[in-house]
Amino acid sequence: MVSGHRKDEHIEIALRNDVEGPLTNWLENVRFIHNAAPEVSLDEIDTKTKFLGYELSAPLIIEAVTGGSMQALEINRKLGLLASRLGIAIEVGSQRPMLVDPSLEQSYRVVRDVAKDVPVIANIGGTQLTTLSLEHLQRLVKVVEADALSIHLNVAHEMAQPEGDRSFKGVLEAVAKVVEVLDIPIIVKEVGFGMSMEVASALRRCGVKIIDVAGAGGTNWVRIERLRLRSGDDDSIHVELDDWGLPTAVSIVEARAGAPDATIIASGGIRKGLDIAKSIALGADIAGVARPALLDAVLGTRNVETMIKNLKVIMSLLGAKSVEDLKNVPIVVSGELASWICARGLALRNRRAYIPCISC
Ligand SMILES: Cc1cc2nc3c(=O)[nH]c(=O)nc-3n(C[C@H](O)[C@H](O)[C@H](O)COP(=O)(O)O)c2cc1C
Repeated sequence: MVSGHRKDEHIEIALRNDVEGPLTNWLENVRFIHNAAPEVSLDEIDTKTKFLGYELSAPLIIEAVTGGSMQALEINRKLGLLASRLGIAIEVGSQRPMLVDPSLEQSYRVVRDVAKDVPVIANIGGTQLTTLSLEHLQRLVKVVEADALSIHLNVAHEMAQPEGDRSFKGVLEAVAKVVEVLDIPIIVKEVGFGMSMEVASALRRCGVKIIDVAGAGGTNWVRIERLRLRSGDDDSIHVELDDWGLPTAVSIVEARAGAPDATIIASGGIRKGLDIAKSIALGADIAGVARPALLDAVLGTRNVETMIKNLKVIMSLLGAKSVEDLKNVPIVVSGELASWICARGLALRNRRAYIPCISC
């Protein structure tokens, strides 16, 4: 989301520290109704999903992580190979550094070089948009032969950075202009603080058709920035904002209510096949992961592959043969999520969702 050097620091911190929580993604408030007689076999479960004109083998995106340095080039090569091997979409990290220094372009381009057969998504910050020309935007897209451009909104993250942006004016207008001038789909995403019904609706009015909620419950940028402070720096805002944001489950319901016809990407703390399944049953179309994929690329774990494998088992247990079936399996929504839905007067896309009667 920033300079190449700062991005390397973010990677180091995200790899070696506890940078998740304290909020959960709130998907624990969504329960499936076990189907003891599903009448399916595991090998007929089909997780194929149409996205950006491709057929993905599973409803999953590797979210924006990095670019802009030698270390980033190597990580992006591994992330690209992972996306290609698993047949899922991939988004590069913020391309702002390569606009300043064109020698950094290859650290992004490498993703397309190794992942020719899956959607590759370009990435830039909403606050930068206000200063970019059409030529700049076209360069972002061209370097990775992007199938879409994603624009990240990261107000809380900027505020937690001593050197971060402080003005967020004109972003929606700039987003609407980009939708108008670029001939590829525009995705607008958060980075871990979630998306409200009001913002989703404003984005839809700007012409945005794909919204990535990136809710709270996974990577926490306030924590990452707190770990970057030097001794003696003021950390009072980091302490106050430690549990800031809309959990991912809330964000899915909010975004769906604000933009009923949009493609909704569920991300932020998606860590299991069960999280993907619950997100889709709750109202998302597809899910996204960032930190688990980063760990796979650098530490050799197999988080993303395991999630997809387990998603298939969970779909069998529900008798859901396809992702479309999964959108309509019965769920029970309880706890804080049920109270939130009730308090905000929200409706669920899944018509087979049961919510306890709460007088509100
Ligand atoms: C190390 C790291 C770097 C990131 N850099 C970017 C970025 O450049 N642009 C962006 O839109 N999001 C960026 N993100 C945010 C992710 O794309 C994602 O929205 C967020 O981390 C929530 O997903 P997670 O909980 O699975 O990590 C980054 C995340 C991580 C972990």
